[in-house]
Amino acid sequence: MAMTLNKCLFKVLFFVLAFAMLLPALDAEKGPQKDQYLKVRADKAFKEAKQAYNPHPEQETKSVSDKISAFLRGYMHFGHNNTRRNLMKRYEGPCMATNPIDQCWRCDPNWGKNRKKLADCGIGFGRNTIGGKNGRFYIVNDTSDDVLNPKPGTLRHAVIQPKPLWITFARSMIITLKEELMVNCNKTIDGRGSNVHIAYGAGITLQYVQNVIIHNIHIHDISPGAGGMIRDTAEHVGLRTESDGDGISLFGATNVWIDHVSMYRCGDGLIDAIMGSTAITISNSHFTNHNEVMLFGANDKHEQDKFMQITVAFNHFGKGLVQRMPRCRFGFVHVVNNDYTHWLMYAIGGSSNPTIISQGNRFIAPPNLSAKEVTKREHTSESEWKNWTWRSEGDLLMNGAFFIQSGNPNYDPKIKAALVATKPGHMVPSITRFAGTLRCKKGFEC
Ligand SMILES: *[C@@H]1O[C@H](CO)[C@@H](O)[C@H](O)[C@H]1NC(C)=O
Ligand SMILES: *[C@@H]1O[C@H](CO)[C@@H](O)[C@H](O)[C@H]1NC(C)=O
Ligand SMILES: *[C@@H]1O[C@H](CO)[C@@H](O)[C@H](O)[C@H]1NC(C)=O
Ligand SMILES: *[C@@H]1O[C@H](CO)[C@@H](O)[C@H](O)[C@H]1NC(C)=O
Ligand SMILES: *[C@@H]1O[C@H](CO)[C@@H](O)[C@H](O)[C@H]1NC(C)=O
Repeated sequence: MAMTLNKCLFKVLFFVLAFAMLLPALDAEKGPQKDQYLKVRADKAFKEAKQAYNPHPEQETKSVSDKISAFLRGYMHFGHNNTRRNLMKRYEGPCMATNPIDQCWRCDPNWGKNRKKLADCGIGFGRNTIGGKNGRFYIVNDTSDDVLNPKPGTLRHAVIQPKPLWITFARSMIITLKEELMVNCNKTIDGRGSNVHIAYGAGITLQYVQNVIIHNIHIHDISPGAGGMIRDTAEHVGLRTESDGDGISLFGATNVWIDHVSMYRCGDGLIDAIMGSTAITISNSHFTNHNEVMLFGANDKHEQDKFMQITVAFNHFGKGLVQRMPRCRFGFVHVVNNDYTHWLMYAIGGSSNPTIISQGNRFIAPPNLSAKEVTKREHTSESEWKNWTWRSEGDLLMNGAFFIQSGNPNYDPKIKAALVATKPGHMVPSITRFAGTLRCKKGFEC
């Protein structure tokens, strides 16, 4: 028995070593290594991405704009037109939902009994994400982390399960991940009602998976994981090189909704979406103290990112941010009603002909005279980027901020019409007032 075990161990070790020696040749990118299991998942992921791709992205931007306009028509009457964030103390009054996503669930005192209602509240390209809506609830009650044999009750045990799950937390907790958290398909990570931090360890990875909601958690002080063997599903353990230290890394992921998260100080990006990731919404979140905030498309050769479609809505890009909010390649990015109150270099950038529609955001430039431009085209001559569709509509530009537009101004007149009337740039401090994690108590409006 001991002999067989030893032999077996030796075989595994041999395999690991042989594989490790092959690593640099296999894939210059950090991250996953292609074993057969992963190859099958990669092929499936690419099919899912193509299926989720909307050949008429302007319809999606219009649908978002219409929802916001309808919401604002009711909302403006209540005098929510405060343009100064710093005048807004911590709010103690009755529940106030300040955008169409929050309006869908926040002011229901029974949100704790109707948690899955959230799955119907998404907007934008990630709006079909339902996470674990069709599954059981799973309550995380243990902060420990075993990457090979996760204990029942831990977050890692929850996220690797094959079935859909709606994951909640028994109490407030800090979870320090030893290696990347490899999330499987059809999961919701729902931190409402507890104060949950994923911090001081590795971050979250969504690789070749579909349909994940991440809601109401703090993610910060993330550092690169050393890599090694990590269980990524109940049936599979894969070898991974060291992770980059992203807060949330989407790698060939489709249908992802990130809402009401607070993120700061991660080793690489706060949120990266690469290698054919698409159908994504990032909303109601608060980002601070970080250099390279969001990367959408990692490489000018990764043409699969032409399928990438992302909505960035109602977020607050706050103190201590430097650049990449986001930095885009190839895809279609709708940046709507975000509050950019601080940046040190630039806000929105890109290369490889991405389409960027910026609507109703507020951009407050920093004092640095060389950093007033909102936009940045990387390594491209003007003759080339002048054809890229980068449009700014209804944006409020303050403190000398300027947005250099390019491409066809009439890419879709309908989208423009939806916003010009409302001048929502002025409304953004109010729309994003509750960006970041919420303190929800069961039995009360949130
Ligand atoms: C909101 O404030 C802006 C700037 O102060 C002003 O131009 C706009 O008319 C106001 N809108 C409403 C509905 O009060
Ligand atoms: C924690 O959750 C696991 C999985 O649901 C369960 O088996 C275990 O009994 C729970 N432990 C406590 C202390 O509640
Ligand atoms: C996730 O849910 C969808 C829709 O119910 C299903 O088709 C798919 O097989 C699920 N994925 C996994 C890995 O179970
Ligand atoms: C001002 O902005 C420029 C351009 O991003 C940058 O190179 C420079 O370091 C900044 N200066 C200061 C003092 O931050
Ligand atoms: C830019 O677009 C115009 C008109 O569609 C086209 O004639 C021109 O070749 C394009 N230039 C580049 C560098 O793609």
